[in-house]
Formats: sequence, structure tokens, C-alpha cells
Amino acid sequence: MNRWSLPAASTAIAIAVVFLLSATAPPAAVAAVVEHTFVVSMMSTHGFNSTFYRFVHNVGQDRHGVMQRFNCWADGVPMITQCPILPNHNFTYRFNVAGQEGTLWWHAHISFLRATVHGALVIRPRHGASSYPFVKPYKEIPIIIGEWWQMDLAQADQGIVDNLDVYFTASIINGKLGDLYNCSGAVEDGYMLDVEPGKTYLLRVINAALFSEYYLKIAGHKFTVVAADANYVSPYTTDVIAIAPGETVDALLVANAAPGRYYMVALPNQSPEPDPQSPTLITRGIVQYRNIQAPDNGAVTPEMPDHQDQMTSFYFHGNLTGLHRPERPPVPTRVDERLFVTLGRGTICRRGQSSSCNKSMTVTTMNNISYQQPQGATPLLELHYYNTNSLTTMLQELPDKPPRVFNYTDPALIPPGPKVAKLEPTSKATVARRFRHGAVVEVVFQGTAMLSSESNPMHLHGHDVFVLAHGEGIYDAARDAARYNLVNPALRNTVLVPRLGWVAFRFIADNPGAYRTYWFCKAVFGLRNWGSMRSFHSSVFIWFM
Ligand SMILES: *[C@@H]1O[C@H](CO)[C@@H](O)[C@H](O)[C@H]1NC(C)=O
Ligand SMILES: *[C@@H]1O[C@H](CO)[C@@H](O)[C@H](O)[C@H]1NC(C)=O
Ligand SMILES: *[C@@H]1O[C@H](CO)[C@@H](O)[C@H](O)[C@H]1NC(C)=O
Ligand SMILES: *[C@@H]1O[C@H](CO)[C@@H](O)[C@H](O)[C@H]1NC(C)=O
Ligand SMILES: *[C@@H]1O[C@H](CO)[C@@H](O)[C@H](O)[C@H]1NC(C)=O
Ligand SMILES: *[C@@H]1O[C@H](CO)[C@@H](O)[C@H](O)[C@H]1NC(C)=O
Ligand SMILES: *[C@@H]1O[C@H](CO)[C@@H](O)[C@H](O)[C@H]1NC(C)=O
Repeated sequence: MNRWSLPAASTAIAIAVVFLLSATAPPAAVAAVVEHTFVVSMMSTHGFNSTFYRFVHNVGQDRHGVMQRFNCWADGVPMITQCPILPNHNFTYRFNVAGQEGTLWWHAHISFLRATVHGALVIRPRHGASSYPFVKPYKEIPIIIGEWWQMDLAQADQGIVDNLDVYFTASIINGKLGDLYNCSGAVEDGYMLDVEPGKTYLLRVINAALFSEYYLKIAGHKFTVVAADANYVSPYTTDVIAIAPGETVDALLVANAAPGRYYMVALPNQSPEPDPQSPTLITRGIVQYRNIQAPDNGAVTPEMPDHQDQMTSFYFHGNLTGLHRPERPPVPTRVDERLFVTLGRGTICRRGQSSSCNKSMTVTTMNNISYQQPQGATPLLELHYYNTNSLTTMLQELPDKPPRVFNYTDPALIPPGPKVAKLEPTSKATVARRFRHGAVVEVVFQGTAMLSSESNPMHLHGHDVFVLAHGEGIYDAARDAARYNLVNPALRNTVLVPRLGWVAFRFIADNPGAYRTYWFCKAVFGLRNWGSMRSFHSSVFIWFM
């Protein structure tokens, strides 16, 4: 049993979230229950606490990627699987992680709060490190890449509604700003990883940032990627890791360079112009060999990809394939349902009326529908469980394909401009898609230039998906289905839709419940002079029965 709290509370307002992790397989012999208590509270270091009540009202907690098999009630999505946790209340998430191994993470389930309320969730093999399908590491090190916000997160959230430019202040590695920042009149500390020469370290890298995909490099060293999103992959050796928000990557690092100090650099990437450009907020830590002489001699700097380079990410993701293991499910070859979903952008009237609207709001869409948080006091899963009729009127079916075909990835559609303006009117609804239990679903997410040319990580709750292929431009079934990897595709819980491109994946709807799929859309934030997007994770909510 293991108890700790974070962070130290300085105001009276707190929510406690208790986790009970059970590592038991269903017919198991030995039950191992792990308990963690999280006290989530507001730290009033800058006195921004007036808006706090509004925020804690919305807190739910998601264990990103934990499949919650047959236990959707613990999925943590406000108004889908549970009511938000109120201030001064406890909620106990009790779940079983049997069959899962690797690096996941947990976070507050509201867009901005996630930036500070998050942490690693590591599931180790039942029989210890010697059963890893790779060399037993000497140590395991979490590397959490995140953002530091100088702005109050509640204000940032409101800023989006009010079309203000909202952006984070700095990138961080394991909570440290690093020596490229000088915030308090002195150079900041960076994360320091001390290594023993010759030893192998397992880095459990998590991107907990709201905005950016990062390139991670360590000067003088290579990584061997062995897992992603808590699924083993065929060992892939590379000198750079590309990790989008929500993704995790486990990589072995062998301390086999000349003893010395080497920078570990995390660089946020972004699409080139005509996309609006954001400040490039690089952060760095240091990998330091034990007992080196003259530790103050500086450190070796890695050569980073260009911050506008998108191909390094495209290739990194394309090079990950699933590792063959007996327990790994085969790729389903039969497909029962196919969805072609465009990720777009649109405008709606602030008050929900589309006509005579002179104050519109930008939203993100899937197949031209923007997600509407379920209205009412009862979470959807509960409505379903009690067989309530109101669901039928509340939910709209997500269409199989977008209502209108256009040249989705035409760069001339990158906002702003008259061409995109014509495509913008859209609507909001609580969209759902129901699948028969056991159905095999194939989804193609098609990026559109309406969103500018960002890549977009998409995350589905409750399931891992087989990533079959990705490509640039517009998906063409006749041409692209032939390229599917049906032999050893990577299993992921977050799939990256490449810049002005598409990704295709399959999953089996075998975990009954109500799940959200959503994306971490960087383009929704400030510094985008064409307006802000309120529904940052525009979602379609998928339901299996
Ligand atoms: C934060 O809010 C609490 C409760 O309203 C109040 O007692 C406290 O003084 C506030 N702190 C700051 C720094 O404003
Ligand atoms: C929440 O849990 C903590 C620790 O178990 C306990 O001290 C506290 O009284 C609980 N609060 C509520 C409101 O149940
Ligand atoms: C950090 O900033 C302070 C105040 O702006 C300045 O006086 C100081 O020289 C800076 N230090 C470095 C190392 O840049
Ligand atoms: C793997 O990466 C290399 C370059 O790093 C690239 O040339 C190759 O196309 C990638 N493979 C896939 C399948 O993406
Ligand atoms: C919006 O419409 C209202 C009512 O028609 C009008 O009073 C107001 O000036 C308009 N605002 C803008 C910015 O056009
Ligand atoms: C889509 O736009 C691209 C870029 O402008 C252009 O090359 C292509 O021909 C267009 N495709 C169609 C079907 O219009
Ligand atoms: C999106 O839906 C709206 C109606 O809500 C419709 O007016 C518009 O033409 C649609 N746009 C596209 C690109 O399908």
C-alpha cells in the first residue's frame, strides 16, 4: 500500500481521488492491490483563486490508456461515465489492469487542468523486470514532458472563449524548466539524469503537454524504442523520439558514450507557414555520467531536427510495429463497420443560433459536427444503464462519412481566407455511434487544411487500436488499403493523424460502455488570429453495447 498526495495544499479546497489498482488477472491466484490517494488542490501562489470553484466542479480523472475492461464506470470522463467530483469530495476509482503492461499516465479530465494535474502510471510485469521482452534495465526513469503556464489555467480557458492569445510559458522535463530559461533572475535548474557507464536505462517518456508534439534527443546517444502506449513494439533504434500529446514511448538508453555530460533536449515541433507560428519553447536537461572529471565543462548539445520538420514524426510513427507476443491479439481481418471521419473546423453562434449571429465562435468538428457536452444532471452511461429513454432524443448518430466532399488537404483552405470561410458554418450535437458487441470497426481519420496544417493526436478510451497505415494527402481506399500492415501493426491508444494526411486503424468493440474519442488539438489555442476554438477536444462519443 502506497499513499502520497500532490501537490501540497495551500487552500482549504481539495478533492481527493483515490485509485485502487488491481493487478489481478480475472481467475487469478494472487491478488495484488495497489492503492494511491491523490489530494488535488489549488496552490494559490499567485493569488489566482477566484475561479477555482468553477474548475473543480469539472474535475474527473482519466487514467489515459487504462482500458478499464468491463469497468467503464471508472473511466473518469465527466458527464459520460460519471458526475464531476465536487470540491471536498472523494471518489474512488477501482480498476483492474490485468493484461496491460507499460507506461500510461493519469490526468485531470478537463482540457486545461490537465496541464498541471497529471502523472505517470506504470504497470510493471507480474513476474518482474526479467520478463520484459528486452534486456533487463538497470533502472527505469519516467521522463514527463510538459508545459509550464505562467497564466492561471482557469483564465487561459476563459481566454479561449474570448478570442485571446493564450499560450504556455515554457516547456519542462520532469517539472524542471532547464537552463534555457531565466524566469526568476537566475538560470533555472534542469532535470538531471545520473547514469553509470555501461548500464541500460529504460526511459518511460510521456507527453503530458496540451499543445505540442516534441522531438526528444540526447546528444551522443541512441534510443531503442521498445514500447508505445503500453504495448510492446519491435525494437526500433533511432536517435530521436517523436511524441505527440497523450502518447507514451518506452525506450532503452545505454550509457555507452564517453563519460561526460550530454544535453537531453525536448523541442516542440510545429507546421511551417502559412500556419500561424508559435514561439519555439525548447527545454533541456542533462544526462551526466557518474564520477566524471570537470563536471562544469558544459555539456554536449544534440543536433535537433528543424522545429518545422514534420517528416521526422511521420517516419518515427511509421517505423513502429507491434512486437509478436503470445498474448497479443491478431489483427482482425474481417471488418464490420467502416467510418471515414474528417477532422475539421467550423463556426457556430455563441448562443447556439446559427442565423442572425454576429458573434460566432470557432469549434473543431468531426464529420462536420462539433461535440456538445451532454446536458443534464445524469451521466450518459448511467442513463444507458437504467435504460432511460431520454438518450434517444439526446444523441445524434455520427455519420459514416462527412456530409460534403471537398479537397480536404488543399493548402488553400488553411485559414484564414474566403475559401475556408464558405465551409465554416457547422452545428453542435452530442454525437454517438453504437456498435454491436464484438464488432470490428475500421476508422480512417482524415485531417483537413481547415484546421491549418497541424498533425492531430486522436485518443480513444477503453480500447487499443491497430494502426494499419498513415499517409499524406487524401485517403483513397482503392490505393491505400493495399498498404495496410495486417501482419504486425503497432497497437496504440493514441494515433497521430499526420499533417495534411490521414491514418487508418482497426479495433474490436469488445469492452461495453460509453467512451469518448477525442483529439488534442493544438490549433485550437491562441496565437491563431482567426479565432479560438472552444471545444478543444471536439469529440464524438462512442458507445458499445
Ligand atoms: C483563495 O480563496 C480562499 C477561499 O475563498 C480565500 O480564503 C483565500 O484568501 C484566497 N487566497 C488568495 C491568495 O486569494
Ligand atoms: C476523503 O478521504 C479522506 C482520506 O480517506 C478522509 O480523511 C476524508 O474525510 C474523506 N472526505 C470525504 C468528504 O469523504
Ligand atoms: C536573468 O535575468 C535577470 C533579470 O532580467 C538578469 O539580470 C540576469 O543577468 C539574467 N541572467 C542570465 C544568466 O541571463
Ligand atoms: C522509417 O524511417 C526512415 C528514416 O528514418 C524512413 O526512411 C522510412 O520511410 C521509415 N519507414 C516507415 C515505414 O515509415
Ligand atoms: C450584434 O447585433 C446586435 C443586435 O442586432 C447589435 O446591437 C450589435 O451592434 C451587433 N454587434 C456587432 C459587433 O456587430
Ligand atoms: C486538391 O488541391 C491540391 C492542391 O491545391 C491540388 O493539387 C489537387 O489537384 C486538388 N485535388 C482535386 C481533386 O481538386
Ligand atoms: C456543415 O453542416 C452545416 C449544417 O449544420 C451545413 O450548413 C454546412 O454546409 C456543412 N458543411 C460542410 C463542409 O459539410
